[in-house]
Amino acid sequence: MNFRLFTPEDYDDYYAFRLLGLQQAPHMFATDANTWESTPTHVFEKHLEASQSRRAPILGVWQDDQIIGMVGLKLSTEPTVAHKATLWGGFVSPQHRRQGIAKQLLAFAIKTAQKLNHVRQLRVVINASNQEAISLFENAGFEQFGLEPKAKLVDGEFQDQLYFWYPLKHNEDY
Ligand SMILES: CC(C)(COP(=O)(O)OP(=O)(O)OC[C@H]1O[C@@H](n2cnc3c(N)ncnc32)[C@H](O)[C@@H]1OP(=O)(O)O)[C@@H](O)C(=O)NCCC(=O)NCCS
Repeated sequence: MNFRLFTPEDYDDYYAFRLLGLQQAPHMFATDANTWESTPTHVFEKHLEASQSRRAPILGVWQDDQIIGMVGLKLSTEPTVAHKATLWGGFVSPQHRRQGIAKQLLAFAIKTAQKLNHVRQLRVVINASNQEAISLFENAGFEQFGLEPKAKLVDGEFQDQLYFWYPLKHNEDY
């Protein structure tokens, strides 16, 4: 398995795999498949350039040149919140689940964030019904700090969201 950052050369994998995630798990993400499909090409090109330069890393895992998992790191830019990064878009293809891939991707994301010196904590927002993801992040040491009631409205149904955070280990005094 090959864990690495997405670059502009991964355009097709990025477009298709994120779309697969949005189609397969529409309740788990903030955006939706229709929005993704109607987004102009140059927006995705910018995402991938920002990933390559680590301004907004998107991490992927490939097996035999086939993309099987991804997760993004969105860095906050405003000065008062620049110490925070948010994980987004975590997805493992259904046929590769329960093999520790998300666990390894998360470890890679933490390592990547630790190398960005100004980033001191990670944050993730999880649908309250997503037991797999809750367990994944809790086992990795993320701590829940809040619940937003009726945070999303998907297909006419309100859903609560849970907020988790993780202080990065290179900050012993944090
Ligand atoms: C959540 C998801 C990324 C997990 O991927 P995965 O590669 O199957 O996860 P792993 O095999 O690395 O499992 C790591 C941990 O996650 C938890 N987990 C994963 N699948 C689980 C399941 N079906 N039931 C309960 N816990 C589960 C467990 O804590 C597991 O650790 P363990 O194996 O020691 O018990 C995957 O199910 C997925 O893509 N779901 C749809 C999209 C989604 O919900 N994304 C999260 C958005 S926040």
